[in-house]
Amino acid sequence: MFIDKHYPFEMIPLSYSLSGFSDFLDFQTLSIHYNQIYQAYVEKLNQLLKDNPSLQNLSLDEILFNEALMPKKIKDDLIEVGGGVYNHQIIFNSVTPNPHVSISPLLKKAIEKEYQSLNNFYQAFKQACLNHHECGFVFLVCDQNGDVKIRKTNGNLTTVKDNLYPLLGIDLFEHAYFLKYKHQKKAYVDNFLKYICFEFANQEYEACLKAIKKQ
Ligand SMILES: [Fe+2]
Repeated sequence: MFIDKHYPFEMIPLSYSLSGFSDFLDFQTLSIHYNQIYQAYVEKLNQLLKDNPSLQNLSLDEILFNEALMPKKIKDDLIEVGGGVYNHQIIFNSVTPNPHVSISPLLKKAIEKEYQSLNNFYQAFKQACLNHHECGFVFLVCDQNGDVKIRKTNGNLTTVKDNLYPLLGIDLFEHAYFLKYKHQKKAYVDNFLKYICFEFANQEYEACLKAIKKQ
C-alpha cells in the first residue's frame, strides 16, 4: 500500500539494480519495463490528474477504489493508467535478487490456512499464471478478514476496487518477460518464485492487518 503518496506521482525507486538478477531478468528487459513502460504510465497518470484538482490529494488506492469520484471524461483512462501505475508498484517490489528474508509467521499461517502449505501455494500461484491467457497480472491478495488468496486480473485492472490488497504479484504482459524468455512463460514464473521479496509481502500483510483493525 502506498497510501501516503498522491499527485504528482513519482516512480517508486527500485531496491535493486537493473542488472541485479543473474538468471531471472536481464538488464534490457528490466530497463525497458521500468524506464519506459512504467515511467510512461506515471507520466500519463500525472497528465490525467493535472486538470482535476479534486483528485490531486487522493492516494492512488483512494482514486482506484472510488470510481464514482472519477470525472466521466477521464474515467476509463484513469482506471487503465492508474491501474498500470498501481500494479507496477507492486510487481517491481515483489522480487529481489537477494531473497534472504523469510516469510513471516503471520503470512505463512494465512497462506497455510488457504493452501495448506507454502509449497501448495507456489503450485497454485504457478498454475494461475499458466492458466492466465490474457495480458494481466496474478497477485496474492489480502481480503477484509485478513485471509489471503490468489487473484488474476486482466489488462491493468487492479484488485483494489474489490477491497483486496495485493501483497505480491507478477506481470504477465509479454513486455515483462518476452525479450528474455520468448514463449517460455513457465520458466519465467518458476524463476519469479525463486526471487519473491518476502520482506515486502510481510510488510504489506502487516499493514493490511493494521488497516483492518482500524475499521
Ligand atoms: Fe508491465
